[in-house]
Amino acid sequence: MTSHLQPSTTKKRILSGVKPTGKAHIGNYLGAMRNHVTMQEDCENYIFLADLHSLTTVKNKKELQELILDLALDYLALGLDPNKAVFFRQSDIPEHAELTWVLSCLTPMPMLELAHAYKDAVAKKDKEINAGLFTYPVLMAVDILIYKPDIVPVGKDQKQHVEIARDLAGKFNRTYGNVFKLPEPYIPEEVAVVIGTDGQKMSKSYGNTIEIFASEKALKKQVMGIVTDSTPVEAPKEPDTIYKLYSYFAAEDEKAELLQRYRSGGMGYGDAKKLLLEKILETFKPFRAEREKLKNDLSYVKNILKNGAEKARIVAAETKAEVWDKTGLAI
Ligand code: TRP
Repeated sequence: MTSHLQPSTTKKRILSGVKPTGKAHIGNYLGAMRNHVTMQEDCENYIFLADLHSLTTVKNKKELQELILDLALDYLALGLDPNKAVFFRQSDIPEHAELTWVLSCLTPMPMLELAHAYKDAVAKKDKEINAGLFTYPVLMAVDILIYKPDIVPVGKDQKQHVEIARDLAGKFNRTYGNVFKLPEPYIPEEVAVVIGTDGQKMSKSYGNTIEIFASEKALKKQVMGIVTDSTPVEAPKEPDTIYKLYSYFAAEDEKAELLQRYRSGGMGYGDAKKLLLEKILETFKPFRAEREKLKNDLSYVKNILKNGAEKARIVAAETKAEVWDKTGLAI
């Protein structure tokens, strides 16, 4: 029998962190969440809610609690199986914060000064650039290194963070002796950029998202709000944002049929939007129903996270013991 806790010879260990920041949208789903769930089948899947990372920006108790639970509900509704994956919260594992201190003491300041998130905040003259934002990459490095994963799937925007983790792992190993495995970023290319309702990359910060668990009414509003040009109904049309969004979910023959309707004219954008809305509702119907069910049983959800933390903690505590041993903190 394979267990999550024994390094398996056949299954690769995958580590994914997801920061609770807002309502899940199609971009999150296609870019990351769907993969995270699928990977539980062939991999030893460690997946956690990076709630300590959220603290760098979220300063409101109720908001943070909601963000955490929302994301947990999203994943469970999408099919993350706590019996297959180790699903937990970063803040339940004190070793993340403890090892962050140890690695901070090995992290050159200039390395953090070059990190994108910090540089962007400086460039934008953000009012509050806190030390947490500055050391964000160290906490993230620990998140990764502590579980010694084979693969760390991330979006392009996180590649630099994984490289920092790799550098810090090397630095620790050279300074004190081998503890950490050098992590490999894995950047799935297929659906790298999902288009948003205004034609830019779908992103919360652009306000162009379609939220997969929004109420039907809100979802409809988002879909109907897709920006279109003024080609009249009768005129032939080129595949646009609506078509692209539809094609993420439709089968080949359905895509071909819509393309045909675009090209032959006589179909308005409103009809295409209706088709897209139906397709989205059909795709997410079982997940949306499951989420409604789970929402009424939050203690069940919290329990899943607690059990996940117990499993993750065994690995984290082992790594901490090695670090304490190598550094001299264990006497
Ligand atoms: N910084 C990541 C993001 O914003 C979230 C994250 C935190 C993470 N720790 C991680 C991702 C460890 C992968 C591994 O998306």
